[in-house]
Amino acid sequence: MKLSVIGCGYLGAVHAAAMASIGHEVVGIDVDERKIAALSVGEAPFFEPGLPEILQQGIASGNLRFTTDMSEARGAKVHFVGVGTPQQKDGYAADLTYVNGAFEALAPYLSPGDVVAGKSTVPVGTAADLAPLVERTGATLVWNPEFLREGFAVKDTIDPDRLVVGVPQDESGEIAADVLREVYHPAVAKGTPFLVTDLATAELVKVAANAFLATKISFINAMAEIAEATGADVTQLADAIGHDVRIGRRFLGAGIGFGGGCLPKDIRAFAARAEELGRGESVGFLREVDAINLRRRERAVTLVLDALDHDIVGKRVTVLGAAFKPHSDDIRDSPALDVAVRLRGLGAEVTVTDPQAIENARRQHPQLTYVADRDEALRNADAVILVTEWDEYRRNLSPEHAATLTTGRIMIDGRNGLDAAAWRAAGWTYVGMGRP
Ligand code: UGA
Repeated sequence: MKLSVIGCGYLGAVHAAAMASIGHEVVGIDVDERKIAALSVGEAPFFEPGLPEILQQGIASGNLRFTTDMSEARGAKVHFVGVGTPQQKDGYAADLTYVNGAFEALAPYLSPGDVVAGKSTVPVGTAADLAPLVERTGATLVWNPEFLREGFAVKDTIDPDRLVVGVPQDESGEIAADVLREVYHPAVAKGTPFLVTDLATAELVKVAANAFLATKISFINAMAEIAEATGADVTQLADAIGHDVRIGRRFLGAGIGFGGGCLPKDIRAFAARAEELGRGESVGFLREVDAINLRRRERAVTLVLDALDHDIVGKRVTVLGAAFKPHSDDIRDSPALDVAVRLRGLGAEVTVTDPQAIENARRQHPQLTYVADRDEALRNADAVILVTEWDEYRRNLSPEHAATLTTGRIMIDGRNGLDAAAWRAAGWTYVGMGRP
């Protein structure tokens, strides 16, 4: 099928390449010329495992191309819109400038029978607002939220755990749902749940999913705070409650909390939208989820301070990680960098290392010192803090080896990813989060 993908960021670039890889003819469109130039030669503008391969295959096969010219959307049967919805500069709500801009730019090139599938994460009600613009052209607007995780985006797009399509409640909606079944034929054929809802439900599914995940993380981090006051161990607590399948162990990783381009802004936008709807109190707990999350960053800084006996000025602190999570070079709202910046603000000499995110981090926080090589970064450190649990730090760094590099023997484990007993046995002061 001929498809267009408007917006070639994390979501759109992966979507375009993934759709080409399952046999569709895809044009990716974005206003950013540099991004389009890179994608056109098969280069991913960000680190995403598996993406360069499917980009190059798609381009070589002739199934995939990229352009800044919106008129090339003409002739596609389905137009996916996956532009960003960042947090507003002066508030918590989502900034819909790019979504509105993309729909206005696309509308002149739509034909009767086309399907426009919104993929951006939007406040509930956005699709209903945009529908008249699309329907005037004879096309149908559906909302098809995306649940991909950065670092696993290719797999999550080609083989998702569910597909959700919100459609208008008339015949055009039924037809459009069938068109999307055809788009996602390999997943549908293998029995992936394909849920057809109304537009508002589909929009809400997305934010509800992220709100739930954020709540789960903040729940365990709240338990970490209680554990800290009582001498209990939050990691054992998580293991124990996680055995209950109704609870589940995943996303119960206590530490410095969640960041990235999705969970933080999505819970804020959800709370803001609920307030507009006069239902602010229904999701009032999301403010608490946000507050718990931000407190954990502060807590990590306090742990470093305590470990250094509050004598931090001029001390060399090595920060292991800059990305908001491993397998990504994304530093948007990264708790890792937040901690690094705060430590520097207290007077420490901070050295940050990361296998992928240094360039992005340097651009945003040029005041920090960056060293790409892990061992070089560790050399002469008075204290070390692990903030992004890359395998390089969590699995492949032994306490014995680290001790040959650092001056001090202080390891603050901001992700509870290390073997506490092994680090202590090697002579380190190991401090986890929510652990005795
Ligand atoms: C998240 C959702 O997981 C995806 O389903 C969703 O599609 C995506 O947002 C989106 O809206 O586009 P992502 O932002 O890639 O995906 O990252 P996650 O894997 O959810 O991790 C988010 C943050 O939570 C990271 O900073 C991670 O370190 C943190 N986290 C995760 C914890 O602190 N503890 C955990 O147990 C798990």
